[in-house]
Amino acid sequence: MTSFYPSAAPIVGVFDSGVGGLSVLREIRALLPEVGVVYLGDSAHIPYGGKSMDYIQRRAETISRFLLGRGAAALVVACNSATAAAAAMLRARFSVPIVGMEPGVKVAVNQTKTGVVGVLATETTLASQKFAALLGQHAGNVRVVVRACHGWVESVERADRSSPQLKAAVRREIEPVLASGADTIVLGCTHFPFLADSIRAAAGPTVTLIDTGIPVAREVKRRLQALDLSKLENSDTPREEYWTSGDPAHATKIYSALLDRNVEVRKVPQEFV
Ligand code: DGL
Repeated sequence: MTSFYPSAAPIVGVFDSGVGGLSVLREIRALLPEVGVVYLGDSAHIPYGGKSMDYIQRRAETISRFLLGRGAAALVVACNSATAAAAAMLRARFSVPIVGMEPGVKVAVNQTKTGVVGVLATETTLASQKFAALLGQHAGNVRVVVRACHGWVESVERADRSSPQLKAAVRREIEPVLASGADTIVLGCTHFPFLADSIRAAAGPTVTLIDTGIPVAREVKRRLQALDLSKLENSDTPREEYWTSGDPAHATKIYSALLDRNVEVRKVPQEFV
C-alpha cells in the first residue's frame, strides 16, 4: 500500500456541472466496487452549457485541485461540456490520469442501419471544436442530426425524470430526430442517461440509445491498472464522498433520488465555490 493515498483502495475523483456525472459514477461503482469515489457536483455554477471556455476551465481547475486534495489518484471529467472545454488544459496541468467524456458518435455510426444518427447534447458540446473534429473523424457518409435539448439538464437537477412536462419536452426533441430517419440516438450529455426511460418511451423500441458511461468506466479501470493502483489492498468499505458547490440539503435529496439510495452531500469549502 502506498502512503500518499489516504485510503487503502485507489480513489477516483469525478465531477460535473451538477448531478449528471452521477450517471457515470454509478457505472464506475458497478465495474469497480473496490475503488473509492469522491464526487463533486458544481451546482453553484450550473449549467456549463452556454458558459465561456475560460469560465469552464477555471471551474475545472479549481474542482480538480479539490478532488486531488481529497486523495484522488485519477480524475473523471463526467461532463461532455467540461471535457470539450477543459480536458486538454487539465491534462497539461495535472499529472494524474484524466478521463473525459465524448459523445458516442463512432459507436452510433457503426450501428446505424438507416444511415442517420441523432446526437442529444448541450449547446456548448455541439458548438465545440472537439465535436466538429469527432464528426469529421467518424461520421463518414452517415447523416448526424443534432439537438441541444434545452431544459433537460434543469429537469434532472430537480430529479424530474418523468413528469408530464418533462415527457412533453423529450417528445419535442425526439420527434424531429425520428422524422429525419435516425435509428440510433447518442446521449451526449451525462445528465441524459437519467432520462433514458422517457427518451425510450418517446423514441420507441426500434431505436438504440448510446450512453458512454460504461465505456468510460472501463477506461477508468484500464488507467488505474496501468498505474498499478488497482493492485492496492482492498478496503472493506471503499471511501465514498459526495460534495456540492451549491446547497447541500437540496443536493442530498437529489443525489439520493438519482442514485436510488441515501447519500449525504457536503458543501465544499468556500475557496472552491
Ligand atoms: N452534464 C453536462 C454534460 O455532460 C451538461 C450540463 C451543463 O451544461 O452544465 O455536458
